[in-house]
Amino acid sequence: MSLFDELEHTYQTARRQLAEVTDSAGLEAWYTATLGRKGSFIQLVRMVGQLPKEERPLFGQKANAYKEALEAAYAQRETEIREAELARELEQGAVDITLPGRPIVAGHLHLTTQTLRLIYSIFAQMGFEVYEAPEVELEAYNFDLLNIPDYHPARDMWDTFWMQTPEEEARLLLRTHTSPGQIRVMRERYPEPIRVILPGKVYRYEQITTRSEHQFYQVEGLAVGRDITLTDLVGTLKQFAELFYGAGRKVRVRSSYFPFTEPSIEVDTDCVLCGGKGCGVCKYTGWLEIAGAGMVHPVVLQNGGYDPAEWSGFAFGMGVERPSMMKYSVNDIRLYYGNDLRFLRQF
Ligand code: FA5
Repeated sequence: MSLFDELEHTYQTARRQLAEVTDSAGLEAWYTATLGRKGSFIQLVRMVGQLPKEERPLFGQKANAYKEALEAAYAQRETEIREAELARELEQGAVDITLPGRPIVAGHLHLTTQTLRLIYSIFAQMGFEVYEAPEVELEAYNFDLLNIPDYHPARDMWDTFWMQTPEEEARLLLRTHTSPGQIRVMRERYPEPIRVILPGKVYRYEQITTRSEHQFYQVEGLAVGRDITLTDLVGTLKQFAELFYGAGRKVRVRSSYFPFTEPSIEVDTDCVLCGGKGCGVCKYTGWLEIAGAGMVHPVVLQNGGYDPAEWSGFAFGMGVERPSMMKYSVNDIRLYYGNDLRFLRQF
């Protein structure tokens, strides 16, 4: 075979082999074996010296043309292989839609909200609707209209956070209890009979302990009608306690004093934390106060627009966290505001 034929043959073989290469490693191997320093094509070109002088230029021309063609074919194949490999990688690395999804961590209702909703549902069964009153309240509603004038010593029990209105006409405060809502409902509903609960946050300047916070929830209750008596109040609260705690828990009623009720009572439940033996939360009495209550004071009825000669009513103001502590055996009220997930996830 002449050197010219061999050149032709080596070129054709190299083209065929290049077409069969399918990956980068094969491509590199092809280059070394063909166009590398010791590659078959380069070796052959070097044999030009064996030709007679007059044939050498023609051989040189052909060899150069073939070399350029091989280099171009190599570059083209390299592009094709890169693209194919990239496509393969993308395909393999793509999201596998058949895999099960990662679970989404969902939150749940705070224990206070759960307790509030339970309270709403129990009172709803007894015909009480929910009425929302403002958290930022006028001094008159929080105190004066509830029979607590400026000089009254009962104000000292409920110190709080005060604000001035822009016009400085009336003083505003963060309400110290939900009772001001009583006046708002009465003034809105007169002359209808009333049966509402008023839930919400209240604020006090208070020493924080295991049973007392400086902000907490209350649910106020108000019933106004023609023949409402203290027995209705006690019966309602006992019925509530039975539905809230379940049968078998003890509820006790003590006489008390509030300027806006007459007579006034306080309602205790047996302390679930110590089983009545006495502990820090119940101050070693075996009982925890959950609500203040009483018959709506005639002055308050009047301030709400209801004539006390015709109308009577009962009211109560119940904590939310404290009954909740007694239902779920929580031994520190601060846990409700601590945002510790180890606590919250238990409910
Ligand atoms: C009052 O707030 C009266 N407004 C209740 C009332 C309403 C009486 C209607 C008569 C008629 P007292 O300050 O006792 O009362 O609070 C009522 C309830 O709120 C308590 O029984 C207790 O359950 C809860 N409570 C009071 N102070 C705190 C506190 N610092 N932290 C958590 N709960 C509290």
